[in-house]
Amino acid sequence: MQTVDWTSVLVWLLLRLLFGLGSLLNIQSKPTMSEAPPAAADQTERTRPNILITGTPGVGKTATASLVAERLGFQHLCVGDLVKQNKFYEGKDEKFDSVILDEDRLLDHMEQMLADAADEERGVVVDYHGCDLFPERWFDLVLVLRAKTDVLYDRLVERGYSETKRSENMECEIMQIVLDEARASYAEEIVHEVQSNTLEDMEGNVTRVEQWVQQWIKDNA
Ligand SMILES: Nc1ncnc2c1ncn2[C@@H]1O[C@H](COP(=O)(O)OP(=O)(O)OP(=O)(O)O)[C@@H](O)[C@H]1O
Ligand SMILES: [Mg+2]
Repeated sequence: MQTVDWTSVLVWLLLRLLFGLGSLLNIQSKPTMSEAPPAAADQTERTRPNILITGTPGVGKTATASLVAERLGFQHLCVGDLVKQNKFYEGKDEKFDSVILDEDRLLDHMEQMLADAADEERGVVVDYHGCDLFPERWFDLVLVLRAKTDVLYDRLVERGYSETKRSENMECEIMQIVLDEARASYAEEIVHEVQSNTLEDMEGNVTRVEQWVQQWIKDNA
């Protein structure tokens, strides 16, 4: 006859109490983009969702975000442009030919823009190559665009990026830095990784976002 190992049973029960059965068994199901995710923490004020489109420079964030904004009548907030227009930087990083952000001023400005858009019952599509600087509560959907190495390389060459800047960005895409950053910064169910290699990919991504937004409005507005 088998004897019961009461110590193991006790440890199991204790762990179950502490962490919950789901996390112990890792049985969380991954929702698809057609399922509306739970509302973000402070979205009670919003009648339209806010979307973040992120990814390595050159993956197609601005092109995709402007299409999404146009189709849905959302406000497109291109963070790179905002930074330049308002001089939200503290200096320049000569080596990487990029600016050192003044995050506090940028975030204060964006917070106000998001609040104004919510007052106007308008959704916002934010596009930026970073995602961990924004408060989690701002977004209901985070789309991480990905591109194949050869496709991205050609786009960066076309832009006339320096060798250093090209290598840094290629490495960033290969190492999926932005995807990992998004997964670490937002709830798993709102982060979606999609390919952005061709115009068909872009069209498909825009259509999926449109459908997702319609579902979100039905469920949350
Ligand atoms: N899915 C795609 N299929 C074909 N071309 C694309 C696609 N996405 C973007 N492009 C093209 O690649 C170039 C870079 O796109 P875009 O400027 O939107 O990138 P980005 O992610 O906003 O870059 P950055 O972070 O530097 O602002 C543009 O010429 C754009 O038209
Ligand atoms: Mg851009």
